[in-house]
Amino acid sequence: PRKIIIDTDPGQDDAAAIMLALGSPELDILGITTVAGNVPLTLTSRNARIILEFCGRPDVKVFAGADKPVARPLITAEHVHGKTGLDGPELHDPQMPLQAQHAVDFIIETLKREPAGTVTLCTLGPLSNIATALEKAPEIAGRVRELVMMGGGFFEGGNITPAAEFNIYVDPEAAATVFKSGIPIVMMPLDVTHKVLTLKSRVAKLREIGSRPAIALVEMLDFFERFDIEKYGSDGGPLHDPTVIAYLLKPELFSGRDCNVEVEAASPLTVGMTVVDWWQVTGRKHNARVMKDVDADGFFALLTERVGRL
Ligand code: BDR
Ligand code: CA
Repeated sequence: PRKIIIDTDPGQDDAAAIMLALGSPELDILGITTVAGNVPLTLTSRNARIILEFCGRPDVKVFAGADKPVARPLITAEHVHGKTGLDGPELHDPQMPLQAQHAVDFIIETLKREPAGTVTLCTLGPLSNIATALEKAPEIAGRVRELVMMGGGFFEGGNITPAAEFNIYVDPEAAATVFKSGIPIVMMPLDVTHKVLTLKSRVAKLREIGSRPAIALVEMLDFFERFDIEKYGSDGGPLHDPTVIAYLLKPELFSGRDCNVEVEAASPLTVGMTVVDWWQVTGRKHNARVMKDVDADGFFALLTERVGRL
């Protein structure tokens, strides 16, 4: 199986991503690292363990990481995810412990221990942990197989400001470090994730599974989607983060192209914007495969089948 580290700030859509990975034998989750984002670090670290326990997988280790962005105060998104970050199901106090090691040290140690080019980083939140690891041990950049991220947006615009997507906006300096690192990057922007909506018919199939993790996920999605439905009259919530995991399992569901991506970190108007050179107008070196389209039904079929295995 392909070795992955999931770096995350759960978040209901992060939970869907973690469940998709847990249900997929093609993936070996070496660890889950948490970061401050949707809610503060104590809550994202708690939520990651609650999700694992919903799935009966307390054997997967959780490491807490950065409690704030590398150069700015934290901005959170309780307006989307609720007070706990995982509103929807009834949440219990997790029994499984948090690991003592810091997430950044776990990432560095794992990349140094495993053969070069074998570990994939899946990032579902702000890039604070990854950027800090790169600052501390720059040699790890050459050892990462691939970094698949949910972040950014280009033709679609932003979801936290007109220009910026939340994960990049929260820690633009970290994102800039990652895009400059030379790590092979695959980017799942809002252009893709706004196409995978939690339509009633799709959620109904998840509900039919009837297992504890499936019901918990459906309760999360019922809460999560109300933001987009109420605010935009949308037909469902955009299931951002599981696109990262789905790409590892079925890359043929997605299409995009290699581009240069730079991150704006200075301008107050556009801070956190991912400037994607889609039309190759600059001649700058490609540093990311930027996805633009997705087979949404194929994506939900995969998610449903895999959650069904939990
Ligand atoms: C991203 O921001 C978070 O709120 C979601 O979990 C996702 O990772 C979407 O902009
Ligand atoms: Ca997230």
